[in-house]
Amino acid sequence: MLEAPYLLRPFRPDDLSSVVEVNRVCLPENYSPYFFMEVFKSCPEAFIVAERENHVVGYIMCRLEFGFSDVRRFRMVRKGHIVSVAVLPDYRRQGIGREMVSSAMKALELHGAEECFLEVRTANDEAVKLYKDMGFDTVRTVAHYYHDGADAFLMNVRLPYSPPANQHS
Ligand SMILES: CC(C)(COP(=O)(O)OP(=O)(O)OC[C@H]1O[C@@H](n2cnc3c(N)ncnc32)[C@H](O)[C@@H]1OP(=O)(O)O)[C@@H](O)C(=O)NCCC(=O)NCCS
Repeated sequence: MLEAPYLLRPFRPDDLSSVVEVNRVCLPENYSPYFFMEVFKSCPEAFIVAERENHVVGYIMCRLEFGFSDVRRFRMVRKGHIVSVAVLPDYRRQGIGREMVSSAMKALELHGAEECFLEVRTANDEAVKLYKDMGFDTVRTVAHYYHDGADAFLMNVRLPYSPPANQHS
């Protein structure tokens, strides 16, 4: 049987409870509904959901920040921060994660971001591979970044985004 295609679209406030649920299922970092809405207001176009048969199966949310570049010494830049991204387990390995990251970066670019960065658990091999494949570099390891004491890689890619030669998008 042919699988229904997925659709990426901007987050709407009435998606909030679905996004909170995807976050709860997929990640140990869970946030209040207020926090999701604050991130949404920071850059609405870079808060994207993936929908399959009218159900939200994934999301990405990003914040626009201004501060020192992670890769260009002493330069102040506008940066896009990927705060959270997740895809429900049954819908993984179909390209949804990659396409959401790529679409969010395009939105961040349009808002003048020169870099995009994120933190990821050093033990999260799937996500680290996704970001590396997309061209993110590891800037440094942040010890005890997470509440449970786990370390994070800080990863960064320059914008405008151009995917590595062997990538689809
Ligand atoms: C990380 C996550 C968002 C990836 O979503 P996804 O829709 O499965 O990602 P994609 O299908 O677009 O995969 C893109 C690439 O990531 C890598 N990847 C993703 N899952 C992988 C896995 N289980 N094993 C190895 N590589 C993997 C591969 O390079 C893959 O490309 P390929 O399928 O062409 O080999 C998803 O695994 C997830 O929600 N994990 C739990 C939440 C999480 O860890 N979020 C990130 C926090 S920083």
